Amino acid sequence: MLTDFFDTVVLGAGAAGLFCGARAGARGRRILVIDHAKRPAEKVRISGGGRCNFTNIDTAASNFLSANPHFAKSALARYTPWDFCGLVASHGLTWTEKTLGQLFCDQKSGAIIQMLLDELAAVGGELRLETEIRAVRHADSQFHVTTSGGEVSAKNLVVATGGLSIPKMGASGLAYEIARQFGHEVIAPRPALVPFTFSGALKETFSSLSGVSAPVDAHAEQGPAFHEAMLFTHRGLSGPAMLQVSSYWRESEPVSIDLAPGQPLAETLRAAKEASPRTSLKSWLTGWLPARFADYIATWPDIPGDKQLANLSNREIEAISLALTKWQIVPTGTEGWRTAEVTAGGVDTDGLSSRSMESKLVPGLYFIGECVDVTGWLGGYNFQWAWASAAAAAEAL
Ligand code: FDA
Repeated sequence: MLTDFFDTVVLGAGAAGLFCGARAGARGRRILVIDHAKRPAEKVRISGGGRCNFTNIDTAASNFLSANPHFAKSALARYTPWDFCGLVASHGLTWTEKTLGQLFCDQKSGAIIQMLLDELAAVGGELRLETEIRAVRHADSQFHVTTSGGEVSAKNLVVATGGLSIPKMGASGLAYEIARQFGHEVIAPRPALVPFTFSGALKETFSSLSGVSAPVDAHAEQGPAFHEAMLFTHRGLSGPAMLQVSSYWRESEPVSIDLAPGQPLAETLRAAKEASPRTSLKSWLTGWLPARFADYIATWPDIPGDKQLANLSNREIEAISLALTKWQIVPTGTEGWRTAEVTAGGVDTDGLSSRSMESKLVPGLYFIGECVDVTGWLGGYNFQWAWASAAAAAEAL
């Protein structure tokens, strides 16, 4: 069987792999990118509702989860959201900023994929799709990759096969297998940016509220508070606020929800009692919460929904305020890999150079993108990590 030789073989033609191939190719390296999928970068295609939220202009290391919160700093500082915007603009593409610094491509996600493919082709990078990776060996200072299309060899191997989320789209644990094979630790991967599920009475209630959404402040026991929308679904809770919280959540822990974010609720309620004493508590709730949600809240023990505001005691007002601003619920679980947008955990950053993503154990071996234990918040951060970690590796290849 013939062996093909390259300077670098990149495993995975997703966001990170294609970009890394293009950047390293631009430095004169002979590049091969391999993927088992029929089409490259399928997650880019479906991202951002088809419009690819390709970066976030407010990107900072604090927008990422990692066992080492400092690891991402170097790569993020050396390849910024504005660098990627420059590339996007140079391809004649434009973007729109939505909330919270999120940039979406006006020409849709297909245009971002085409841009990545054009960049790779322009530097003579080769892309082989529908190619299975069967084994990886390191011998004689070279990496040898056995694929369904034969053996390829290279001085450097970049692993960019992503995480475990959405197996239907070809996600696999290959990066973790290769990491372990070469002596790296892997921090247990877990689904992140994923809706919560509930069982029993809560599931039934939330299902009946499906489609209702409300702005909240929400946090897990160990995470920051996110001020975004919460959405009831047939299975439980979703919406940006809950997806963000899910990345920090651990099984059997409660999620804390403030339904009146930023409001001094007890004071507001006392003022309402003065201004509209005959209004019932439930009608007052409907003034700032969706009616179906307010109906549900009125069934809570501390919420005397039918009482007129005039008849609420100070103690009741305090209890109402507490119930609404410190609502705690314990999810049964999450929707898991089937719908998780990303994978938290992954190749332990302790074994990688933060400057180049190169293995500290095996020279020439690199891990980039989602397979690394660096997980972004919702809102373009994960792609920015894919671009930045790819650029960091490409500089060293
Ligand atoms: P990615 O998963 O993109 O690529 C890995 C590649 O490796 C794939 O092409 C796969 O086929 C290939 N591969 C896997 N196993 C293999 C094997 N065994 N053999 C050969 N090839 C293999 N992020 C963001 O910043 N903004 C957004 O708008 C969104 N939106 C979004 C929506 C949805 C529905 C999802 C699921 C995810 C997002 N994300 C996102 C997250 C983002 O898509 C993700 O973080 C990046 O695609 C990660 O890029 P990578 O290149 O690391 O992996």
